[in-house]
Amino acid sequence: MQAAILGDGPFGRAVANALEAHGVAVQVVGRPPTGAHDRGCFGGIDVVVDASRGEAVLANVRAAVGAGVRRLVIATTAWDHDRRDVAELLRTREAAAVAAANFSPGALVFARLAEIAARQMARLPGYEPYVVEWHRRGKADRPSGTARDLARRILAADPSLDRVSSPADGPAQPGSLEVVGVRAGANPGRHLVGFDGPGETLELTLTARDRSACASGVVAAADWLVAESRPAGLHRFDAVFDVDDRLEVLTAG
Ligand SMILES: NC(=O)c1ccc[n+]([C@@H]2O[C@H](COP(=O)([O-])OP(=O)(O)OC[C@H]3O[C@@H](n4cnc5c(N)ncnc54)[C@H](OP(=O)(O)O)[C@@H]3O)[C@@H](O)[C@H]2O)c1
Repeated sequence: MQAAILGDGPFGRAVANALEAHGVAVQVVGRPPTGAHDRGCFGGIDVVVDASRGEAVLANVRAAVGAGVRRLVIATTAWDHDRRDVAELLRTREAAAVAAANFSPGALVFARLAEIAARQMARLPGYEPYVVEWHRRGKADRPSGTARDLARRILAADPSLDRVSSPADGPAQPGSLEVVGVRAGANPGRHLVGFDGPGETLELTLTARDRSACASGVVAAADWLVAESRPAGLHRFDAVFDVDDRLEVLTAG
């Protein structure tokens, strides 16, 4: 397999290391000076991994599928506003992409546990959920893509909530979910989902020690895409994770 990674930041480099350790030939491409990637970047490439910036995703996908790439892993966060256009582009070009705000296997299980907890806690009077995330000072987006996904799942599970709180709200408002982001130092990522109720607090925490777990999930997604032809469009990481014989790859990363 040959892969091109669009994005030469810490995560793009971590994915490059994981793919190389998996026997994949990799080229890492940074921000294109002209604003759009040249067709030459994609010659002979089986899979493109996007690990760039949210505002670059749509143009990167357009350049890749325009050059004939049919398999992509989109690991970049904060491109929700372009999701519909990206999905349409993939469908019209008959290309398949796996996209997730967090490719770590632990994050996927964590999100499912948070969803179950939110649904059960919503039935108990006086219990209120909250989300806290910590990341390095230089992280571009806030809240993180993982925190936004957790919030989306909690809002869907708890009918008493209909929005995420905003600092402009002032005091906590009824119906709003507290989501708080901390940006300091070099923290590679920590997410906490809590439920505060009468006389007790339940907290679920996922702590990333480095980027290797997320990088291993990207490798598994690339493998899943090349293993057989997948339907055109966007796929969730769940589709990769729920294939039993892929679990070995996920845990070996
Ligand atoms: N899904 C997951 O599991 C996961 C895990 C970790 C990180 N992430 C996400 O992955 C992305 C990258 O993370 P990071 O920590 O490496 O971020 P980063 O430090 O911001 O690095 C992104 C790099 O991409 C470059 N870039 C900008 N536009 C580009 C383009 N069109 N094509 C190629 N490269 C481009 C940037 O260059 P400039 O500095 O010139 O803009 C920068 O060097 C972020 O969105 C992050 O949230 C996802």
